Amino acid sequence: MNGLGVRAMDVEYEPFSAGWSDAIIAVASGSARANPIESSLLEDFGVIGNAVHALLAHPEPLRRVARDLARVPDLVEETLRFDAPIQIVFRTATRDVELAGVRIPQGSVVAPLLGSANRDERAFPEPDRFDLERRARGHLAFGLGVHFCLGAALARLEARVALEALVPELPRCEPVGDPPEWVDSFLVRGRRRLELAPA
Ligand code: HEM
Repeated sequence: MNGLGVRAMDVEYEPFSAGWSDAIIAVASGSARANPIESSLLEDFGVIGNAVHALLAHPEPLRRVARDLARVPDLVEETLRFDAPIQIVFRTATRDVELAGVRIPQGSVVAPLLGSANRDERAFPEPDRFDLERRARGHLAFGLGVHFCLGAALARLEARVALEALVPELPRCEPVGDPPEWVDSFLVRGRRRLELAPA
């Protein structure tokens, strides 16, 4: 048991249904397992689980953000860059275009890889390093242009509130069980399940 009376977090991550928001309910209520209630805010697409997973693998950023919760927004942005919850979007060319020397005929479907753009070393030096100190804003996790995510502000708020509750607990937690299973999707990058217990 830790300070909040949480025995373990054992929360199924299912995009679009009960999810990581429930982990917060588990922390707040001290229950060992969250009720499979509907997630309030259309789900966070895994950013909270991705942040927890990244922090457990990176002790220095964890120490830093646990000491200073004002760094949680940096944590959210770096997580969105490092593990873009939506990896791909789709576009249909409305006319022939040429992009980076490649001719794209009208009617072609193009799939820009947001996760790859977020690891472009020209924009983010040492892109495979999880680094709270970098200026991660400018990532493409919420898309770009006219279709930029309408829920970005809400998703950021949800992630911040959740992580402000979770992060102080994490230095006293460790992952248990099998390595986390990924959501089985080429679109969504997130952990299906992440089980923690007091260290
Ligand atoms: C971490 C959470 C989220 C991520 C990573 C995310 C990501 C994205 C991305 C990449 C797009 C662009 C799709 C495209 O260009 O084809 C998008 C669009 C959109 N998102 Fe989100 N989203 C998140 C949360 C939310 C939430 C909470 C809502 C609603 C409350 C929402 C509503 C929308 C809507 C309505 C669009 C379509 C916008 C348009 O086509 O003009 N999203 N999202």
